[in-house]
Amino acid sequence: MSRIAIVTGSPHREGLSLQLADAFEKGAQAAGNEVYRFDAGLQKPGALHFLRLEPGSPEVAKPDNDVVSTEVIPHLLKADVVVLVSSLYYYGINAQLKTVIDRFYSYNHNLKDKKGVILANGYGTHEDMSIMMAHLEKIMSYMRWQLLGEVEVPGSWTPSNAQRGIQEAEKLGRSIR
Ligand SMILES: Cc1cc2nc3c(=O)[nH]c(=O)nc-3n(C[C@H](O)[C@H](O)[C@H](O)COP(=O)(O)O)c2cc1C
Repeated sequence: MSRIAIVTGSPHREGLSLQLADAFEKGAQAAGNEVYRFDAGLQKPGALHFLRLEPGSPEVAKPDNDVVSTEVIPHLLKADVVVLVSSLYYYGINAQLKTVIDRFYSYNHNLKDKKGVILANGYGTHEDMSIMMAHLEKIMSYMRWQLLGEVEVPGSWTPSNAQRGIQEAEKLGRSIR
């Protein structure tokens, strides 16, 4: 049994990102894992606090007592596996997901040595998604998270591609022990 923390970024409840997360979560729970999920893109306006730095200092300011510091970070610290889920927005990840990732900074050391999973989809081609995929993979290696697997769905507008991704995400979730 692993403790899994899923962080999604898309603001589109019916979109493929959140369907990939749903499928992964379903598979992971069926395999007996404990799942925590935070949908950053579905939070109320103002719920996500941007990282703030002390003026004139490289030190990270103590974050506000918000959902990221009180709920998300504690779950991430306890997690064995972290799942990052994004759609392709302007060739990068969802801003809401990045807002949460930037808040890792004060905890980089304590968050290290986990396992990681990437779930991503985009309207464009595999090549269109390559910079975002490389970014997510780089974040994983920077955090020293061993990449267990990724599901990438280019051409998200094609139902068969979406369906394939959903099936892959569920299978990947099921493979976590
Ligand atoms: C703000 C915005 C930016 C987007 N940028 C891109 C892009 O750079 N390249 C691309 O191929 N598709 C782009 N798309 C299309 C999305 O990648 C596509 O609709 C994806 O399936 C959305 O997933 P979601 O519904 O799970 O958020 C963009 C969509 C939006 C709303």
